[in-house]
Amino acid sequence: MSEIDPITLAPILNPGGIGGPLTAAHQEMVVKHRDDLEWDKLRYEGQSTKMMFHPTQEDPTIPNAGVVKYEKGSGHPLHSHYFAQIWYILAGKFEINGVVYGEGTMVFHADPHYEHALTTLEDGEILYVQYMGPTTRQPAIYEGRFNMKTRRSLEEESRAV
Ligand SMILES: [Fe+2]
Repeated sequence: MSEIDPITLAPILNPGGIGGPLTAAHQEMVVKHRDDLEWDKLRYEGQSTKMMFHPTQEDPTIPNAGVVKYEKGSGHPLHSHYFAQIWYILAGKFEINGVVYGEGTMVFHADPHYEHALTTLEDGEILYVQYMGPTTRQPAIYEGRFNMKTRRSLEEESRAV
């Protein structure tokens, strides 16, 4: 008879070592490559996206994780979110709240948060990871954000969440 793991409540398959046991609930990694995806439209003009992982109806806890490509001159207005997110600038120059940030910069937005207006000074790319807020329990949003068929005007676009 196998023992039950107190965290996952699943049967322990192997008691393991320092890292803890392996249970029937532990999942294997999932791998994707950006070259296997087409660019999609983000809700703001001049921004394209390849979200390699994103929330689904079946599993809203999956993060939005992928890259966003910014054309010089594109940006976004001040707006807010209930989820949390991390950005890592892979290339380009971005002005946020009067400061210019470039390659190697990481930005952490705790939940809930607001984003200052952003302007792209040089074409660039940012790695995004948006995830369910540990405080708000609100998921990242994929549908209607990262896969736009046609963009709404900025006036029509929500500035909240
Ligand atoms: Fe945002």
